[in-house]
Amino acid sequence: MENIIITGFMGTGKTETGFKLSQKLNCHFVDIDLVVEEMENRKIVDIFLEKGEDYFRKLETSAIKKVLQKEGQVISTGGGALLKEENRTLLKEAGVLICLSASPEEIFRRVGSGEGRPLLEGDDSLDKIRRILAERREIYNQVPYNILTDGKSSEEVVEEIVILLKKLRVI
Ligand code: S3P
Repeated sequence: MENIIITGFMGTGKTETGFKLSQKLNCHFVDIDLVVEEMENRKIVDIFLEKGEDYFRKLETSAIKKVLQKEGQVISTGGGALLKEENRTLLKEAGVLICLSASPEEIFRRVGSGEGRPLLEGDDSLDKIRRILAERREIYNQVPYNILTDGKSSEEVVEEIVILLKKLRVI
C-alpha cells in the first residue's frame, strides 16, 4: 500500500483520524509533529519558544523526508507542513494526500485557547484561527482530496477516507 497522508489546519482532527485509520487498515501510524519532538527531545511549544518558527520548519522538513523513506503508513502532518513548496512536492509524490478541513468556529471549539499550539495561544485564538486559515486557504484547497469534518466524529471521517481509498483502489 502507498502512504496515506493526512494534512489540514490545526484542530481538524488529523492525529486522531490518522491513528484510527491506521488501526482500521492495520498499518503503522506516524505523526510528523511527534517525530520532530523526538528529534529535539522537546515539545513543539518549547522549540518555537527557544529556537523560533524557522528552526521548527527546518526540522519539520527533515522529519517529513525521514518518514517518507518508508511506504504503507498512515502519516499525519502538522498544520503548516504544506506551507513550504518543498514539503508540498514531497508529500504529493509520496502517496495519497488528504486534507481535513473545518470552519474557524469548529476549530476554536476543538483547540480552545490553543494550549500546546504556539501559533494559536492566547485569548484571541479565534481571531488567530480566522486570520491564519484565510492566509493558508489557497494552499489547503490545492490538495486533491478534501474532507469537511464539521459536526462529524473521527469514526465518520475515517469511514469517508476508507470509501475514498477504495474508490482510488489504494486498499
Ligand atoms: C502548526 C501546527 C501544529 C504544529 C506547529 C505548527 C501550524 O500541528 O506543527 O504548532 O503551523 O499549523 P497540529 O496541526 O497537529 O496542531
